[in-house]
Amino acid sequence: MILITGAAGKTGQAAIKALVARRQPVRALVRRDEQIQIVKFLGAKEVITGDMRDATTLKKATQSASAVYHICPNVNPDEIQIGKTVIAAANDADVDRFVFHSVLHPQTEEMTHHWNKLRVEETLFESGLSYTILQPASYMQNVLAGWQAIVEHGVYAVPYSVETRMSMVDLEDVAEAAAVVLTEPDHLGATYELAGPEVLTQSQIAEILSKHIERKVRAEQIDIDQWTRQAQASGMGQYQIETLIRMFRYYDHYSFWGNSRVLSQLIKRQPTRFEEFVERTLRGRTQH
Ligand SMILES: NC(=O)c1ccc[n+]([C@@H]2O[C@H](COP(=O)([O-])OP(=O)(O)OC[C@H]3O[C@@H](n4cnc5c(N)ncnc54)[C@H](OP(=O)(O)O)[C@@H]3O)[C@@H](O)[C@H]2O)c1
Repeated sequence: MILITGAAGKTGQAAIKALVARRQPVRALVRRDEQIQIVKFLGAKEVITGDMRDATTLKKATQSASAVYHICPNVNPDEIQIGKTVIAAANDADVDRFVFHSVLHPQTEEMTHHWNKLRVEETLFESGLSYTILQPASYMQNVLAGWQAIVEHGVYAVPYSVETRMSMVDLEDVAEAAAVVLTEPDHLGATYELAGPEVLTQSQIAEILSKHIERKVRAEQIDIDQWTRQAQASGMGQYQIETLIRMFRYYDHYSFWGNSRVLSQLIKRQPTRFEEFVERTLRGRTQH
């Protein structure tokens, strides 16, 4: 039985699908009762409802599990403590392998949520567990949050320079890589950077969108104050807002990109290009 934490989030759902496709039994840890149906529909065999910060919940969730795939909720102020709690529970349950969903470049202190993941990695090194660490770049799926503005107004808005370079990765490729390291031998002790196959500026992303959406799409930098007002209106917490602003400033200064060789090796094919992701997204939307 493979336990997935954060199972009802977008990464968790992709991981369930990839593991179920390999006929692996999945136990999903979700926070709310309404999420039980979502993960069951995707094929999770067992579901535990509870708070990831709670050791008793984690004890129950890890019991008799052979492996744990730990996915912490995004930009969570308690990420280090949650990591320690999950690692301790996995150790007590004597699991065979522990896969931590980290992030590309956790070494960047300036990005608090990356730096917190580095501390969890450190805890893992010292835990005695057989571990694998995955460090994905930002997901292509993040573009979907602004899909309506792209399609209806031809604007791809980002709160950093349109010249920012990124090697976005398809979450489905990341989930496939996770399924590989969770089920195949020879990945223990490894730390894998998972980046997409192209390094694109935001303007190049807009050009690709233009080509496929059949309308001119332009990349536009929105200012941080405007982004903050929108984030506050959507109910985002202060910690998340401040942390994401630091990340946007970092992207703006240094870009955020990596290499896709490791990912191709893991999934034994070329990782998805952004153009292919857009085509797949459009096919999915016309089918609904
Ligand atoms: N997005 C990217 O581009 C990217 C790239 C690399 C790495 N990552 C990392 O991937 C991880 C997952 O991101 P995501 O966007 O898939 O996450 P997400 O969609 O925010 O999902 C998190 C899930 O965890 C649940 N949750 C929140 N607090 C909880 C708690 N205390 N106890 C139990 N469950 C709780 C959430 O439930 P509710 O709905 O109730 O909140 C949600 O179902 C993050 O650590 C992120 O840093 C993301």
